[in-house]
Amino acid sequence: MLVKTFGSAIHGIDAIIITIEVNISQGKKFYLVGLPDNAVKESHHRLVAVINNIGNKFPRRRIVINMAPADIKKEGSAYDLPIAIAILAASEQISNHRLNDFVMMGELSLDGSIKPVKGALSMALKAKEDNFKGIIVPLENVMEAAIVEGIDVYGFSHITEVMAMLNNDTKAGLVELSADDQLLKLNTYTFDFEDVKGQENIKRALEIAAAGGHNVIMIGPPGSGKTMLAKRLPSILPPMSIEEALETTKIHSVAGLLPSDSSLVSVRPYRSPHHTISDAGLVGGGTYPQPGEISLAQNGVLFLDELPEFKRSVLEVMRQPMEDRIVTISRARVTVDYPASFMLIAAMNPCPCGYYNHPEKDCVCSPGIVKSYLNKISGPLMDRIDLHVEVTPVPFSELADTRAGIKSEIVRQRVIKAGKIQEQRFKNQKEIHNNAQMGTKDLSTYCQLDESGRNLLKIAMEKLSLSARAYDRIIKVSRTIADLDNSEFIKTEHLAEAIQYRSLDRENWGS
Ligand SMILES: Nc1ncnc2c1ncn2[C@@H]1O[C@H](COP(=O)(O)OP(=O)(O)O)[C@@H](O)[C@H]1O
Ligand SMILES: [Mg+2]
Ligand SMILES: [Zn+2]
Repeated sequence: MLVKTFGSAIHGIDAIIITIEVNISQGKKFYLVGLPDNAVKESHHRLVAVINNIGNKFPRRRIVINMAPADIKKEGSAYDLPIAIAILAASEQISNHRLNDFVMMGELSLDGSIKPVKGALSMALKAKEDNFKGIIVPLENVMEAAIVEGIDVYGFSHITEVMAMLNNDTKAGLVELSADDQLLKLNTYTFDFEDVKGQENIKRALEIAAAGGHNVIMIGPPGSGKTMLAKRLPSILPPMSIEEALETTKIHSVAGLLPSDSSLVSVRPYRSPHHTISDAGLVGGGTYPQPGEISLAQNGVLFLDELPEFKRSVLEVMRQPMEDRIVTISRARVTVDYPASFMLIAAMNPCPCGYYNHPEKDCVCSPGIVKSYLNKISGPLMDRIDLHVEVTPVPFSELADTRAGIKSEIVRQRVIKAGKIQEQRFKNQKEIHNNAQMGTKDLSTYCQLDESGRNLLKIAMEKLSLSARAYDRIIKVSRTIADLDNSEFIKTEHLAEAIQYRSLDRENWGS
């Protein structure tokens, strides 16, 4: 008898429906065709054990299993469940009348329990798109899949539960969630700006960065609060829309990083990979391509602490994805795209000893060493960083102050307001969503300077020996400062503030 079940494969962050056909006839051999990898091939032995262990009979006949489409590589053991169900149905041990309704995935333990899979959210979205009635996923993955509305999502922890449900049309295992409710319920931040004493100028710089989508680097000695401030950046960004949350969740689901009790990544992600990270770890890759940190930070924040300690080559591979906001991973058989739209916040000590420019401690580094420390950072990466902020440690008297600082909530409201202005400004431009994304041409359209503004910039460039690349960045940042000020025009005061955020461009830095 011939029976069909449906599973799914992940390509990039999207799912593809895989048809599993099982035919049982006279004979005594087991065939698995359609480009399965080793893990799928090994499933034969597992399936024999599982089916016998749950008290059913593995048919001792000729079994042909075909997985289509054949040109999609099928990885791992997550096909155990649809294959086992198909074998049970083809040998008439369970009913086959509902098999066309469901897409199912799950790895099986020898005792028949179902282990979690990657990419359940993408699978649910695809199954809905293809008009399946429902999906069957491991219990651990049911929360992430159930966020998709308009399709029945069942979560089970044992194959016998799946069999019972298919035989008896029961609703056991059905989980219903509302995406909007989840977004509201889960929208809480772990860290708040109010914990940071003093540092008003740094908070201001981060507010500007958040408002215009500008990448930022903080330069300061150890213990000055750089990490503390970076961790609080997500809390001043606008809340994620449901589309953004789904997109980020899909990536985390594909990477197998969603905790089983959560359905949505509802707060902007904050990723802080260590400087020893590999190219593949940062941008994605591997034999079976997996998203890297820049994709896990999708719609959120990527924090690169101790930037000069990263291998130059690792930083170089980030350049193109940062430009395109997408990363393409090419392998012999497959090419996949992962979204990579994130805000970069980097941190570094000002010099190898950490105390260059320190108000109290003495730096022991020679000027040449300070310069070459900075030069370790790749130029093209520095080109994507609009704001440089020097962080000096808060004096003890201020740290001991018991008054709370400004709350993230208040800053976030201002950021949202400035974001709305930009939304309006760029409403006819598909590629640009915020000030940071403007190209040179856009600057002349949206960032006209008046006579006194132009003069100020000219003097600043000369006096502070700012490099040419500082020029466009100062104008972009001043556009954001003007937006925060609700000002249609960029005023001299906006420019004057923006000029302060280019420390590392000064030719005399380190001398
Ligand atoms: N402005 C501040 N307000 C409150 N605590 C601070 C501040 N700056 C530093 N600290 C304290 O010092 C610790 C070290 O700061 P950290 O962010 O790790 O510094 P850095 O990353 O610059 O080395 C923080 O965990 C925090 O407890
Ligand atoms: Mg730190
Ligand atoms: Zn030093």
